[in-house]
Amino acid sequence: MSSRTWWQEAVFYEIYVRSFADSDGDGVGDLAGIRERLPYLKELGVDALWLTPFYPSPGVDHGYDVSDYVDVDPQLGSLADFDALVADAHALGLKVTVDIVPNHTSDRHPWFRDHPEYYVWADEPNNWPSTFGGSAWTFDEARGRYYLHLFAPEQPDLDWHNPAVQEEFERIIRFWLDRGVDGFRIDVAYALFKDPELRDEEEPLPPMPAPPDWRRSIDLPELHPLYREWRRLADEYDGGRVLVGELTFLDPARVVPYLRPDELHLGFNFTILLAEWDAEQLHAAIDSSRAALAPADPTWVLENHDVTRLPTRYRGPRSARAAALLLLALPGPVFLYAGQELGLEEVHLPDDVRQDPVFFRTKGERKGRDGCRVPLPWEGEAPPFGFTTGEPWLPMPESWRTETVDEQERDPASFLSLYRGALAARPRGDAFAWRESPPGSLAFDRGEMICVVNVDAPAVELPQGELVLASEPTVTTSLPPDTAAWIQTTKLRPKGTT
Ligand code: BGC
Ligand code: MG
Repeated sequence: MSSRTWWQEAVFYEIYVRSFADSDGDGVGDLAGIRERLPYLKELGVDALWLTPFYPSPGVDHGYDVSDYVDVDPQLGSLADFDALVADAHALGLKVTVDIVPNHTSDRHPWFRDHPEYYVWADEPNNWPSTFGGSAWTFDEARGRYYLHLFAPEQPDLDWHNPAVQEEFERIIRFWLDRGVDGFRIDVAYALFKDPELRDEEEPLPPMPAPPDWRRSIDLPELHPLYREWRRLADEYDGGRVLVGELTFLDPARVVPYLRPDELHLGFNFTILLAEWDAEQLHAAIDSSRAALAPADPTWVLENHDVTRLPTRYRGPRSARAAALLLLALPGPVFLYAGQELGLEEVHLPDDVRQDPVFFRTKGERKGRDGCRVPLPWEGEAPPFGFTTGEPWLPMPESWRTETVDEQERDPASFLSLYRGALAARPRGDAFAWRESPPGSLAFDRGEMICVVNVDAPAVELPQGELVLASEPTVTTSLPPDTAAWIQTTKLRPKGTT
């Protein structure tokens, strides 16, 4: 598969930086903590890291409110720590991609004070809601006008129609490319440009994570020349730097125009993430992504830092294990979210520890995203399970005693062992063909590998071949509900040939 570039079949591993590993005991994960755990990621078998924003930030949206795009938040480390992390990752053969947040800055970014013309203002608010709840407009006393924020009021939206903003970001992108990053995940890539007339939306909009499908601020034609420029920039650097857009439209067909050879390399595809644990829905999601995105590479994701953990969203750990084999059998790049490989469930946190602006903006009506951002359990019998020597920034459940990396490494039947096995045996290449399978189940060929997933059929007989991997150790010749398996077929050669 030498004609395929690394990102076309890479497994990316998303690290929510403050929740991964803490090196200095302040209870907040940091870059040095990630660096210490690189051998774990290497052994897990992922190809690339995606680091959520680690830039200086007041922390209203934990890094997605950036106050300086070309530095590291002192709580998370320094530029020297970043360079050391990239060097060590590269030495292990791991790529490093970083989040870039071009839609909005923090309201503490010096631009908001010194360059109000970089932002979107109006004398009167229109009817646009903030994705986090409430209006998308806040009155600025000093300037006597309203500014736009599709997210929290502390995240004012930049005016991408201003060429100065575009120039600033070219410098920022270059800064990180020069430091050796292998690519960017572009936050809110669908919405940088707003309707210049700021017209009202015609219908009320759904809240996150539902894709914003008809907002006047998404999918504007101006995005294309911008991404062509960014692509040109990325292509100046050797080694195949990748641009991954957060293009989470409801309809994958709308993503295609961004994936031309001179624009973004990849776009997030949330179709399977938005589907339920339901064979028909998953079948349709896979089909629609493949049909709409061909010949570009559809990406696959089931978890990230914005959505409820999979075992909680589905029908418990068994279903999430089966889904792991489905996900890792699909053709194209896959994104995993730290802790998914441990089968972590959503944590039901008390209201008084919650930090997500979604919780505050909706007066607690939406609990927000903290439940999937609880720090990772590494080892030991009690919280903080080796995550930190101090007090973790969110409380960790006692019940994770049996979920730690250390425990799971010793158990061949653990979630972690399943993920390691699947990452090692994962079929490569783009061959894909559906097979007949009973209602309530899915089956497809990936070259010489067959993936069979039983969601809720009474039982599914496995095809002939060698059982490479099963989501439950009890599986032999037939799959009960909530299980999956990979079967290796050996091609039969006619006699007398070699
Ligand atoms: C990120 C969220 C963030 C929002 C605003 C999203 O796409 O994934 O975590 O709150 O952008 O930056
Ligand atoms: Mg720390």
